[in-house]
Amino acid sequence: MYFSLRTMDNLDWSAVRALFPTLRNWVHLNTAAFGPMPSTAVQAMNEHFESRDQTASMGFLSWFDRLDVIRAKIARLIGAKQSDIGFCPNAGTALSWFLHGVDWRSGDEILALDHEFPNNQYAPLMLDSKGVRFRALPGPRTRFDPELILDALGPRTRLVVISAVNYSNGLRAPLEDLAPELRRRGVLLCVDGTQSAGVLRHDVEQTPADFLVVHGYKWMLGPAGAGFFYAPPETRAWLLPSVVSWRSHWNWRDFERLHHGRPELPDEAAMYEGGVQAFSLLFALEASLDLILECGRDAIERRSLGLARECREILLRQGGVGNLDPDHPCDSPIVTASFPDLDAAALRGKLERRRVAVAARQGNLRVSLDFFNNRDDLQRLASALAA
Ligand SMILES: Cc1ncc(COP(=O)(O)O)c(C=O)c1O
Repeated sequence: MYFSLRTMDNLDWSAVRALFPTLRNWVHLNTAAFGPMPSTAVQAMNEHFESRDQTASMGFLSWFDRLDVIRAKIARLIGAKQSDIGFCPNAGTALSWFLHGVDWRSGDEILALDHEFPNNQYAPLMLDSKGVRFRALPGPRTRFDPELILDALGPRTRLVVISAVNYSNGLRAPLEDLAPELRRRGVLLCVDGTQSAGVLRHDVEQTPADFLVVHGYKWMLGPAGAGFFYAPPETRAWLLPSVVSWRSHWNWRDFERLHHGRPELPDEAAMYEGGVQAFSLLFALEASLDLILECGRDAIERRSLGLARECREILLRQGGVGNLDPDHPCDSPIVTASFPDLDAAALRGKLERRRVAVAARQGNLRVSLDFFNNRDDLQRLASALAA
């Protein structure tokens, strides 16, 4: 990073905020919908287009090399290896790659929650043509215990699909308990980390998923169209690629003498991602990722959760009814509340007119607290709600 965000050992949060042009005009409490992008990300994208003009794209192979550097940075963020990381245009696409690479047997079952993000229901439901059953358990509203899933596993349950953080009520899945236990019982786990990666620590060593998908336009603060997935060696050993391209042969970098005939797949997650990648978007994602890594996973999580706790108090003081268990610590950067006699969507619209960006989901006001937010944002939310 070519500017300083630190004074001595402390992060200068106002310097962090200054990187986001959106924050000049908005109280941005809506990362769960779309995160703001730092100016460094837009700059990285522009620099890529300039380099196409300047070099006639003669060195395009180096752009693929840079993708490997970005894979390594993502791997650092989630405790994985560079070869476990692939890119995808969005979370739904990567989930479909995974689902369509499994050798389903008629009668196999997929388990999810009934309030899951639609991606994680629609795609499994569409496997009925292969005889795969989909079962949606009543989603928890206040606290999420691992037994909810573990006690529901049946003899044919082959896969659990779950969001690390639920998009509509902010509840966190107990992945630390769930993931190792599912592995022990031989049930596959596919995690959607779109609402958590970038803000909450996510470590695949502790939460061993068989597949993880993340779209980077929310908490990763990247552009839409830049996403990634994690496919560890155990998954790559059996998961067939649904997208096959000129990069499916291990020696694709030798592009002046491309291999003809059946490809020999390279043993890396990139084998699932298809051909030429969205370089500009991924280079922008890299700049956002650099910022996240520079601020640090722990500092980001601490700051976001601290603000979330304060936000929860504000919503309750303003008459909101929180759906979070009062005996359970607030551990999510997404805080939701309903307001009796008030339509959440109408309230969201009123806040928007005051330049306070939040969301309404399933009858709740949804407020997202990210590391670039501050107490002033919360004050402005409180005043807007009071008004
Ligand atoms: C949990 C979750 N996954 C994925 C997405 C976005 O899906 P996609 O990347 O397929 O557009 C969202 C958007 O709100 C989400 O909340």
